[in-house]
Amino acid sequence: MSPAVQSPASYPDVVTHDVPVFFCRFNFPGKLQSPPHKGTLATRGAEPVRVTKVPCALRVIIVPATSVIGLQWGDEAKGKVVDILTENHDVVVRYQGGNNAGHTVKFGGNTYKLSLLPTGMLQSHVQSVIGPGVVINPLALLTELDSLIAGGVDCGDRLMISERAHVICPWHLLEEAAFEKQRGSKAIGTTMRGIGTCYREKAGRFQAIRMGDLVNKDRFANKVREIVPLKQIVLNALNPDGEQLNVGQIIEDYSAAADRLRPMVADTTAWLLNAQETGKRLLFEGAQGSLLDIDHGTFPYVTSSNSSGCGIHSGSGIPERSIGTMIGVAKAYTTRVGGGPFPTELDNDLGEQIRIAGNEFGTVTGRPRRCGWFDAVATRYSARVSGVDSIAVALLDVLSGIGNLQICEAYEIDGKVTRDLPACPDALQIAKPVLREVRGWTEDITDARNFDDLPSNAQQYVKTISKLVERPVALVSVGPDRDQTIITSPLPGS
Ligand code: GDP
Ligand code: IMO
Ligand code: MG
Repeated sequence: MSPAVQSPASYPDVVTHDVPVFFCRFNFPGKLQSPPHKGTLATRGAEPVRVTKVPCALRVIIVPATSVIGLQWGDEAKGKVVDILTENHDVVVRYQGGNNAGHTVKFGGNTYKLSLLPTGMLQSHVQSVIGPGVVINPLALLTELDSLIAGGVDCGDRLMISERAHVICPWHLLEEAAFEKQRGSKAIGTTMRGIGTCYREKAGRFQAIRMGDLVNKDRFANKVREIVPLKQIVLNALNPDGEQLNVGQIIEDYSAAADRLRPMVADTTAWLLNAQETGKRLLFEGAQGSLLDIDHGTFPYVTSSNSSGCGIHSGSGIPERSIGTMIGVAKAYTTRVGGGPFPTELDNDLGEQIRIAGNEFGTVTGRPRRCGWFDAVATRYSARVSGVDSIAVALLDVLSGIGNLQICEAYEIDGKVTRDLPACPDALQIAKPVLREVRGWTEDITDARNFDDLPSNAQQYVKTISKLVERPVALVSVGPDRDQTIITSPLPGS
């Protein structure tokens, strides 16, 4: 039986918003262009769609959301790109990861480093949301919030935290340290923030604590009293000389944090769904990069969440199909922090030269980032898995004066050439990059503001990346500052 068509009068009002793109969830999952004309609720291409002719119920009309994700192993300059897009959005949402992320944003002579807080905190018109898929260390969150306020950012009541998000507790950090130590040279090289152990707890369910539990004093204290003795057995076995957990202290510290966070903890899922259905423009801020995705990345050398575009729906509660534009950010070269295969790595003087020029030291841990040539195989894979519409190419200025450049366009594995990313870490470990040489440039490009301002070799380099990744370029970044940006196509939300 086909669903009944409701009368147009029963539909919610078409949002009166200046964004000329509307999205109809049920009937036209593709992108709908141009504003609706009077008497229509949506258009597909140039064709107006009348409600009376729609074969089944038109469920909701919403402004399509935007998302920004990393296409490499993190630190692609997502923070900078999100900051640029924030101006044209109303809500910025973090939906996965935790304080393993480090997003640096520069403008007005100031540098801001965000870890768990959405980059939207930096702009006063924006509501920031930490969604259900994020893992939260409440003490770290408050430290970050306080340092932002001390730095002059008016945070007001602009932060909302999902009651469904999971809480990182002291035992998660201790367990992670013990496991990483045990793995020796095969360690993942994690950020030691308790991210993986907290996500493992979430999957295990019984010993997990959510923000909704944290802000309920009795429930939280009971959970800690129940969990700690069990955790202590495991921790003692892993590390007999290790720190002993102090139940009273944990309850005291976390309850004090809960008292401050309680007003911010809410059902963000319901709030976001309503916000989108009433015309708010949502911007999703990815953390880490697609190659660190727990399912689609270079497992096991990954983080423990879905850090590709795949995590947006599960981590926020907002349907993936309501995202109108997904921008994938990629550095003009490649970096990686921690262990794991890296086919285009330059473990030599050239790698060091790029590290220095790009200031490639981790925002969170200060570790030197491993540097290498742009890997179009891995980046194309990420772009396809997430279905990004376009790419932002960042840190192009770092390659000025490096000499001729190489881009990896295929891997050779056991004598076979492939453009696909192998699932097996051993295969990726032995993959030899098939490199394409592209001429370099010597000019300083940090003042370029139009694509044509770039030296022709730099233009050609960007075009080659675009061709090999099979995506158009939306933006080129030529320096860390907000202004040091070349916009090559209209940005979503504008
Ligand atoms: P994220 O984790 O993806 O947000 O990236 P990070 O902030 O960890 O790392 C990117 C670094 O590059 C930061 O220090 C930025 O300030 C800096 N950055 C961003 N874009 C550019 C650029 O185009 N050129 C240069 N030289 N630095 C940039
Ligand atoms: P942003 O958002 C780069 C890496 C760690 C380690 C692996 C697992 O700034 O791009 P974890 O602590 O998550 O269990 O560590 O993932 N990693 C990142 N690398 N940028 C990040 O975030 C990262 N977050 C985690 O170095 O190799
Ligand atoms: Mg980073």
